[in-house]
Amino acid sequence: MSEKIIIFDTTLRDGEQSPGASMNLEEKVQVAKQLEKLNVDVIEAGFPIASEGDFEAVRAVAAAVKKPQVAGLCRASKKDIDRAWEALKDAKKPRIHTFIATSDIHINYKFQKTRDEILKAAVNAVAHAAGYTDNVEFSAEDAARSDVSYLCDVIEAVIDAGAATINIPDTVGYAIPDEFGRLIATLREKVGNIGKAVLSVHCHNDLGLSVANSLAAVSNGVRQVECTINGIGERAGNASLEEIVMAIRTRHDHMKVHTDIKTEEIFRSSRLVSTITGILVQQNKAVVGANAFAHEAGIHQDGMLKEKTTYEIMTPESVGIKESTLVLGKHSGRHAFSDRLKDLGIELTKEELEKAFLAFKRLADKKKTIYDEDIEAIIADEIFRLPDRFRLVSVTFTSGSGVVPSATVEMEVDGKEKVKAEFGDGPVDAVFKAIKKIARSKAKLMRFTVSAITGGADALGEVTVRIRENGITIIGQGASSDIIVASARAFVNALNKLEYRKGTRDREVERPTL
Ligand code: KIV
Ligand code: ZN
Repeated sequence: MSEKIIIFDTTLRDGEQSPGASMNLEEKVQVAKQLEKLNVDVIEAGFPIASEGDFEAVRAVAAAVKKPQVAGLCRASKKDIDRAWEALKDAKKPRIHTFIATSDIHINYKFQKTRDEILKAAVNAVAHAAGYTDNVEFSAEDAARSDVSYLCDVIEAVIDAGAATINIPDTVGYAIPDEFGRLIATLREKVGNIGKAVLSVHCHNDLGLSVANSLAAVSNGVRQVECTINGIGERAGNASLEEIVMAIRTRHDHMKVHTDIKTEEIFRSSRLVSTITGILVQQNKAVVGANAFAHEAGIHQDGMLKEKTTYEIMTPESVGIKESTLVLGKHSGRHAFSDRLKDLGIELTKEELEKAFLAFKRLADKKKTIYDEDIEAIIADEIFRLPDRFRLVSVTFTSGSGVVPSATVEMEVDGKEKVKAEFGDGPVDAVFKAIKKIARSKAKLMRFTVSAITGGADALGEVTVRIRENGITIIGQGASSDIIVASARAFVNALNKLEYRKGTRDREVERPTL
């Protein structure tokens, strides 16, 4: 049997640091449950000291999952570690993840301290964390740009202080694969007690090399990889879980290691994260992009018909992509609907099921064929919604050649009905203006994207909007068979998220910078 690579998923922590990707508590729990189905080994649920919202989310994830370890991030300070432990202590398998930067750039400019002071802070932090649990991870932030001999000293000292996992981040995505692989080999050779800890990597994608660097590290003896679904994360993102896992699986002949990931859950995880964060997956993204298994050239199609392995190195089924099947129509009843939800792995309470079923019926009245993706969009739209301050009641609009586009929007604000009518440059513009008037919002629309979730003229359209107010960027999504209604839903969704975000920001204890 080959050696196992531990998959440490940080979608809920580093992934959530993607601009605009903030998730609320319910959404984080939903993602965590899906990560449990995916069978990741560790879920990094958040940064408990960052805000009340982060703290509560880590606590909720710790309570919601049983199989994976749950990690909370903290700086190398007692206050951070105590707060992280408070959030984690009821988890079945808690892990404290403490970090401090070890590169001279960070030591001199960010901390204005000496190497010796940083080493002591690292050791003290790990020793303090080890007083709570023996599952302590230490990260040497910006390790890839750190002086190697100093890095060795820090690692040796924190292992002696009780660190069970040593993480080597390429924080700014600067490393080149063979160089990064050599760094890992050097650490394994030079750090005397390295055998007492699991060696891990955490690579950012600034040069598009995060997966390559992670795999080079694995080839040089690393046994934990930190990654995120769809590769979301700070700046250009983190190494993408699905790419690492499928590379290890597809090239087992070369890598000679394995993961315990249930690869058939990959596509569903990707869709869930994209739906919740509003960060769309690029069409040609490896493994989970819409074109990842599409064969366009005639010569390729011919080859595929003769023998699939001519142009396919892994099957769509192996990552959970199946032919979109017609599952339900307007005559389908509650029973068929709830059976289909079970097949899709969606668990709802009785009330949620009723709400989703009514939305399904409304859609089935307008749209003949309901696909799995339509159902997932209904669930995202109707169920994974925040406790909303704003509720869209109705949208009517006129547009066309020779008329000035106008819209009338009816909304509930804190339970009170309000109506406004506006003209605009187009129907979407008119709708957004009316919504902003009702919500008294100053938010600026930064981006507007429309995509069809399913095929055909009656396809369900998914609209993603990115809005910005007072330095906060939020992504909202809405789906409907009518694009203008989907746009209105997306905008109202974004405004609700913004309200939530403002609320958690007001309650923040302190927002540390990474
Ligand atoms: O990129 C980084 O260095 C990090 C650490 C906190 C692990 O996210
Ligand atoms: Zn990171």
